[in-house]
Amino acid sequence: MPRRAETAARGMRLHPWPVRIMHWTNAAAMLLMIGSGWGIYNDSVIFNGVYFPQGIKLGSWMAKSLQWHFTFMWMLALNGLAYLVYGFATGRFRQRLFPIRVGDVIETVRETLRLHLAHEDLSMYNAVQKILYLVAIAAGILQVVTGLAIWKPIQFAPLVSLLGGFQSARTLHFLGMSVLVMFLAVHVALAFLVPRTLLAMLNGGPRQAAAEPAE
Ligand code: HEM
Repeated sequence: MPRRAETAARGMRLHPWPVRIMHWTNAAAMLLMIGSGWGIYNDSVIFNGVYFPQGIKLGSWMAKSLQWHFTFMWMLALNGLAYLVYGFATGRFRQRLFPIRVGDVIETVRETLRLHLAHEDLSMYNAVQKILYLVAIAAGILQVVTGLAIWKPIQFAPLVSLLGGFQSARTLHFLGMSVLVMFLAVHVALAFLVPRTLLAMLNGGPRQAAAEPAE
């Protein structure tokens, strides 16, 4: 049997290579955007007394941070768009992130409070994981939309109005970042607590059973 047909018969990997490439590209772009965003924020803080220490921001001063931010926003937006198209076109979002049942959420929270993080079957995300991934995806989209509004407020004037004005768009951009940082803290901690998941996001993980041929 030719190699490609043989691979198809054995099924795809848990995380096919496009997902892995897009995931790690997104992780790198997010970290660069967050670090440089903190540098830009410091120049004109939104919340008095809230600023980011020199050691954790990217760019020695505001203009440098802006250059980093404007460079990597393209990587984040294009990679994110590719991930959304892939997720919808291949049915990955439907299969992996839905359905979310209230009963499953309660059960997962109960298990987590008992510090039971088994995650036996890597091919099934638990209900809380599904919600967290959807929140991260939504926050990523919000960052691109609010970012566009504050990047070109004249060209995107209707979008700025829709977001409640320039300052409001800026505050939403900051809140989106805060959600993503909280997501990252939980997400990375869980990945290291269950290292099999991390390995699978690197090597693709086990092959999934091939779909049954139509009768
Ligand atoms: C830089 C550190 C990161 C690490 C170590 C990491 C690790 C992982 C791992 C191990 C998985 C697989 C989870 C599983 O199979 O149970 C995963 C999936 C996922 N991660 Fe991350 N991640 C990182 C950054 C991010 C960022 C910045 C985002 C988005 C803001 C993100 C969003 C996602 C999403 C949406 C999935 C599900 C992907 C899918 O199945 O299509 N990750 N991550």
